[in-house]
Amino acid sequence: MSCVIVVGSQWGDEGKGKVVDLLTQQADVVVRFQGGNNAGHTLVVNGNQFILHLIPSGILHPGKRCLIGNGVVVDLEVLHKEVIGLRERGLTLGPENLAISGKAHLILPYHKHLDAVRESAKGSGSIGTTGRGIGPCYEDKVARVGIRVSDILDEQVFSDKVRENLKEKNFLFEHYLKVATLDPQEICKSFLPLADFIRPYVADVSLLIDEAIKNKKRILFEGAQGTHLDIDHGTYPYVTSSNPVAGSACAGAGLGPNKIKAVVGIVKAYTTRVGGGPFPTELSDETGLFLREKGGEYGATTGRPRRCGWLDAVVLRDSARLNGLSHLAITKLDVLSGIKTLRICTAYSYEGQTLQTLPASLKAVEGCRPIYEDLPGWSQDLKGIRKRQDLPLEARNYLKRMEELMQVPIGIISLGPDREETITENNPFN
Ligand code: IMP
Repeated sequence: MSCVIVVGSQWGDEGKGKVVDLLTQQADVVVRFQGGNNAGHTLVVNGNQFILHLIPSGILHPGKRCLIGNGVVVDLEVLHKEVIGLRERGLTLGPENLAISGKAHLILPYHKHLDAVRESAKGSGSIGTTGRGIGPCYEDKVARVGIRVSDILDEQVFSDKVRENLKEKNFLFEHYLKVATLDPQEICKSFLPLADFIRPYVADVSLLIDEAIKNKKRILFEGAQGTHLDIDHGTYPYVTSSNPVAGSACAGAGLGPNKIKAVVGIVKAYTTRVGGGPFPTELSDETGLFLREKGGEYGATTGRPRRCGWLDAVVLRDSARLNGLSHLAITKLDVLSGIKTLRICTAYSYEGQTLQTLPASLKAVEGCRPIYEDLPGWSQDLKGIRKRQDLPLEARNYLKRMEELMQVPIGIISLGPDREETITENNPFN
């Protein structure tokens, strides 16, 4: 039994794509279990860049099976474009290497419309969503009016549901939000032709995973976003609408927790966040700009500049606990070269108290001030280094301090975007 979950430990964009891509080389099956095309992985393979939003990056490897679980919300137009785009670049995509759960919910134009209109109505208090309709789609799922992949395979069922849903949505658009309404016939006209495209890929993902486990295959569960964007455990309401924590892999793909062997937490060597919400270690000075420019901290999905700051061990300790992390994968350590003194936030100060964990109340999180520990930085370029002991002493100390603060051992250290720029010390599949 070899099921490994990979999750982001901060606010997303930790560089999961590269680590997932590396682990995929050893996996037989790669599974997405939550989120939708709000995620975006940029991958460089043999000098070619690929940006994927929905399909697991395992698709770039021949012979791997990629699964989209029931917990994912799917924009069929985006999936269709992604499939066509990959085919045009010479990749083979068929039911033998891509399957999607019939229970996954569909993102429809009214979800995107609602996302956009609500965000602009909130003005400066906006969440800064990716505008992909993710939140409204999950809302409909929980309200039990969602439309699932299996529904679009039946024209009548799909049309009836769209018509029914639009009654309420259009009332909201017209009378409360005072924006244009949507036409159910237009939606059916543009979406129903996609039924034929998706039909061959629809499968029982839970069954496929069960079969793979029985056949002793290695399965990688690819989390999207990050732990502190989790709808339950994140900095609510500045969060996404799904559960990026590791526990959600079981519900979002359809397997039991006793099947999980390891949980890898991806940790960027500093912290970033896109969109609104509290960020105690945010840097709005030259160091913040240095991290953004050197780290290429611009969103793969929206192109937005990311907010940057020091490493936050409070955030990371919470992640270790919430996910049950067994391994850490550190990314972008190379970006820190050239910073004279590095700071790690080890606790927060809040109203005269020292806090070791993020409080539940947003007001309290916003009032938290980081307590820093300073560590000497290093100036050497880390390019070409392939062993931890060859790293500068200061870089080794920084990594050691991370392990101490999180109480989780490091398994992988990434020193650049290419597959080769990696130190692997402890393979989670072994
Ligand atoms: P939504 O997921 O589009 O609803 O956006 C909710 C919040 O999650 C916003 O702050 C987004 O910027 C953030 N978010 C969503 N997906 C990602 C991601 O893949 N990386 C980083 N932040 C994300």
